[in-house]
Amino acid sequence: MLDLLTLSHRTDHAITAFAKASAEFPPFDNGTQLLDRDTIAKIREVGVHPFVLVCVQGDSNQSPHWLICETENDLPKFVDELAGLPMLGECKLLRGFERALRLETYEAAECWFSWVKEAPLGRAEIVRLGLPLSASLGSYYGYPTFDVSSAAASDNGDRRLSTLSTLFEAYLGADGNNATRIRLVEAFAFALSRAFGARGEYHEAIWIVDRALQLWPSSIHLKAARHALGLKLDGKMVPDRLVKFIGEDNLYLKQFVCPLPFEHFEISPSGEVLVCCGHWLPTSIGNFMKGPIDGILNSAKAQKIRESMTDGSYKYCNHLDCGAMIQGTLPTAKELDNPATRQAVADADYRMKGVDFLTFGFDQTCNLSCPSCRTHRIVEKTSASIEKARAVEEKLVDLLPTVKVLHINPAGELFGSKPSRKLLEMIDNERCPQLILDIISNGTLFTEEEWNKFPGIHGKVRSVRISIDAASKPTFEKLRRLGRHEPFVENMRFLSRLRAAGTIPQLKFSFTYQLENFREMPEFVEFCASMNADFAIFERLQNIAFTAKDYRAKAVHHPEHPQHGEFLRIISKPIFATPRVWHDFDYQGAAKMTSDQARERLAKTQAVMPNAVAVGEVRVS
Ligand SMILES: C[S@@+](CC[C@H](N)C(=O)[O-])C[C@H]1O[C@@H](n2cnc3c(N)ncnc32)[C@H](O)[C@@H]1O
Ligand code: SF4
Repeated sequence: MLDLLTLSHRTDHAITAFAKASAEFPPFDNGTQLLDRDTIAKIREVGVHPFVLVCVQGDSNQSPHWLICETENDLPKFVDELAGLPMLGECKLLRGFERALRLETYEAAECWFSWVKEAPLGRAEIVRLGLPLSASLGSYYGYPTFDVSSAAASDNGDRRLSTLSTLFEAYLGADGNNATRIRLVEAFAFALSRAFGARGEYHEAIWIVDRALQLWPSSIHLKAARHALGLKLDGKMVPDRLVKFIGEDNLYLKQFVCPLPFEHFEISPSGEVLVCCGHWLPTSIGNFMKGPIDGILNSAKAQKIRESMTDGSYKYCNHLDCGAMIQGTLPTAKELDNPATRQAVADADYRMKGVDFLTFGFDQTCNLSCPSCRTHRIVEKTSASIEKARAVEEKLVDLLPTVKVLHINPAGELFGSKPSRKLLEMIDNERCPQLILDIISNGTLFTEEEWNKFPGIHGKVRSVRISIDAASKPTFEKLRRLGRHEPFVENMRFLSRLRAAGTIPQLKFSFTYQLENFREMPEFVEFCASMNADFAIFERLQNIAFTAKDYRAKAVHHPEHPQHGEFLRIISKPIFATPRVWHDFDYQGAAKMTSDQARERLAKTQAVMPNAVAVGEVRVS
């Protein structure tokens, strides 16, 4: 909470300002003005300093209209009211605010960035912050207030940038309404990264982004901005896709259309439905437990996400980590091969009739507790498991016959989960003649006996991906906690036989590289070959279950890690540029295929695996 002491640097100015008889106070050089008498009177009338207070002044004959949001609990009604303001389109500061309150972070930042750039276009928008010293308010929480009027603006870009910076500091330093306040901080930091970046003021930008990241470490946009700013300050090239995070949008991604949101439907452990993996595109389009499938598939958010694949913004995507962006394998609109997707893109009609690809990650239950994935073993309560299994039976029964590919279970362990087993039991040639399965598993329960319990899937499995993360027994048992190496290797021999017999057309082994295993990476490629695996997949460690400190200690792919040099030497070996190795190496000196070779390989793989995406489809929810 801000108090008068924290505002003491304004004292002289404040006293002078308040001493004036005028109702208007002169602006500070930080782009804001002190709360005026009307605002203070309104706050007194409300009885508490509201989280958001907007004063709308139409023409001078009318008395002002106030929009009040006391706490974030009132947001839905307040934001609708705000969105209904006729002049909102010309008030980009307030419009950005409305976008940010709806958690449309990318759009908010875009709005504010262009507000600075286009100055003095638009309507007069004044931010009021700080109490004059001679005014007293029982409850003052340091939240800015907004005045908008139909008068034309008369400010400039410098002043608007100062206003944005002050707003960022105010929300960072205030307290309460944290769920929303933190997202406001994120949006302001993203806008400021772009605005300062566009001026070449990267130190200013990084100072802001770093502090916002401390408050909201999972921000996909701020992580991308931070990475790009770091590269800039080190004098390195910023990848084309990240340029817009620290300045103008170069529209690089506009040439591509990612088909995943048009074709995928992923049920996550909480029931939230995603259209890509949660790490690459975390925004939900609805909840599987709550509504009919069609309402989710074509929700407003689902359609917006699809549109963002065509307008070049990719505004809901993790630009830093998306494998398809990193490898340069996103298709152009002409290269899209699914007719329904082509049609939707051509017509700009983003409603889809069916679900081609279903990713079933509805249950986190697992027999292991890998340290990279979780801190302890997770087994869902029996009641929740039964409820989920029932929902699977009721809701997927009609959908399954239309699904072409089922990806199961990227959130937990397939054979250790009731809802997953229920789904496997529902599959047979009669019910789903066109269905094929891509299985991801830790392999420790993948015995011949278990396989034989699900005869309906035999002949339908297109690929099996086993996560291993090791090429030796001690590393395996450390990183696949609760797993035992010898029976696991036995299971891999069984899978190797299924692959050799053609029962499984594609076998893939994966490896999440980190401190404990990175020296085993070359040996792992050899192990994969010895087991008839088609591909060895290498993926970077994400921070899912670690403290920030532990993650830093394990993430050898980060340039500041003490072993990063050794890691770079290992991944520069030619073996990592061979066609049987998939990886997400975005590091200097890494052995990798050219973008053309990677696209050619993807095309070949897609001939067997029509929905294959770059790298290896990590699905960490
Ligand atoms: C969560 S697991 C679920 C499927 C299955 N139980 C398995 O282990 O393959 C899905 C994938 O996430 C990977 N994974 C786990 N923790 C990770 C992390 N911190 N960063 C990146 N990938 C991770 C696993 O290795 C696996 O390939
Ligand atoms: S990575 Fe897979 S095997 Fe390991 S704990 Fe997570 S879900 Fe289980």
